[in-house]
Amino acid sequence: MGRPGFPIPYIRVESVSVTTVLHVSDLHFGRPASSERLNSLRELIAEIGPDAVAISGDLTQRCTKKEFVQAREYLDKIEEVAPYVVIPGNHDIRWLGAVARNMGGLFRQQAHNFKYSRYTRFISENLSPSLEVPGAVIAGVNTAHGIVRGSLTKRFRDLGVIGHVKRADIERVREIFKSASPDAARIVMIHHNPIRGELTGRHGLANTEQALHAFADLGTELILCGHDHLQAIHNVERGVHGLVISTAGTISNRLRPGRASSFNLVAIDERTLRITTYAWQDPGSFAPSEERSYTRRAVSRPA
Ligand SMILES: [Fe+2]
Ligand SMILES: [Fe+2]
Repeated sequence: MGRPGFPIPYIRVESVSVTTVLHVSDLHFGRPASSERLNSLRELIAEIGPDAVAISGDLTQRCTKKEFVQAREYLDKIEEVAPYVVIPGNHDIRWLGAVARNMGGLFRQQAHNFKYSRYTRFISENLSPSLEVPGAVIAGVNTAHGIVRGSLTKRFRDLGVIGHVKRADIERVREIFKSASPDAARIVMIHHNPIRGELTGRHGLANTEQALHAFADLGTELILCGHDHLQAIHNVERGVHGLVISTAGTISNRLRPGRASSFNLVAIDERTLRITTYAWQDPGSFAPSEERSYTRRAVSRPA
């Protein structure tokens, strides 16, 4: 209370609520995995306490049972400190076996089940899960389909490596966004990078432009992806309001020459979308290395 004769000061405290999504990719359990970095990442997640952890695929290297068991244990530990959402990457599916089975005359559905059998057994039955937390909704879209018509490419070394976004998944994202809170930032998570990698010069999707326009038109503000093993943050003009694209690097040893392991931390408030890349630095910890901020545009939600 103010002293007699003095007006009570009017203090207006504006509470800015920030939603944080820790975006990590390409853990590659198995030979390329780095237990030092994985442990450090887990400790940092507990320290930061993000609202959500988004894992954009390639949990394993060779899609083996042993690698999936390790990935499962790791996800269980993450879940103790933050909700997570995860999708498969091209390394998490048994596409070669599925092709063989398909050729052997089995039904398509059986080949499909075989292809994802390890992932669905150890990680999740849902290949395209979504997660809504206060301030953000993340729609996961499985883009890893192996050798199928939509992902075919003339580049032999990309066979089974590149992915595509199915039309049905775009419709599913539409429904997820429709039922999400109007205040939630619309985020799509895919495995394959839609923007060409700085060092590889390759992008991961067979139908990049079609997918980016479709997601932008659904009111998506941010796309999370991995696959390129090199972190990048882009802002591209697509659809009515453009898109920010967060490509997370890898936590594993499958690094691009001269580049370090990394992950991206996304912070969203009412006006700003900020992405900070944390890179692995000596003497052995993740530290902020690059930051980009974007003013959030007024997004008109499709009816
Ligand atoms: Fe990968
Ligand atoms: Fe990949």
